[in-house]
Amino acid sequence: MKKRKNIITVAIDSPAAAGAGTQAKLISDHYNLFYLDTGKIYRYIGQLKLQYVKKFSYKFIDNKIRNLKLNDLNDKRLLTNNVAMSASIVAKDKRIRDIVHKFQQICAYNPPKKYNGSVLDGRDIITVQVKDAMFKFYITAKVEVRAKRRFNEYKKLKRKISYKEVLKTLKKRDKSDKERKHGPLKKTKDSILINTTKLSKKACFKMIKSIMDKKLNN
Ligand code: C5P
Repeated sequence: MKKRKNIITVAIDSPAAAGAGTQAKLISDHYNLFYLDTGKIYRYIGQLKLQYVKKFSYKFIDNKIRNLKLNDLNDKRLLTNNVAMSASIVAKDKRIRDIVHKFQQICAYNPPKKYNGSVLDGRDIITVQVKDAMFKFYITAKVEVRAKRRFNEYKKLKRKISYKEVLKTLKKRDKSDKERKHGPLKKTKDSILINTTKLSKKACFKMIKSIMDKKLNN
């Protein structure tokens, strides 16, 4: 695949609800980078699995991803606990990961011309997808804090779910995402650790911005 030269690439890995998406959006706005939330693609496939029980096959998924429009990823149905869990299950499958890989590569290395580069967040962005990223951040937070944040988001979306259930699912997903064979979540030595447990969104972005500006202005 031909790669656009001299673009800014930002790779972020994180467990669920650690604030990676929020920071990725702030980075994308500030530096004019194309943003892809890769978890949404697995959620999209997880939703297909729940919706098309009989039709669900590799060929079916491949076809859906080939025709995937970025707007499909804004579907509010993707933001449920059931879909998150289903996403985590389909994400263990190597063939499904390979299908998603192609889509992510184009977004990372050939973002639309109007952007200065790309920012991707997920579980295997630093380790597999954009190994040569210019910036690598591993964003995390205490699981109870992450569960509280996700619970509040669900409340805003009027989803009926308890904090206890959210915490249980997050722990289950963390375990599956970290222990699976293909593309497990792990921190690499060359990525910068950012713990958002006690950090506000603003403070966290300030930290990221100072790291990025230092390198970009050199
Ligand atoms: O980030 P989000 O919580 O939306 O991701 C949903 C699920 O998709 C994760 O629990 C994980 O199993 C999977 N995922 C993945 N690789 C990525 C992004 C997400 O396996 N790059």
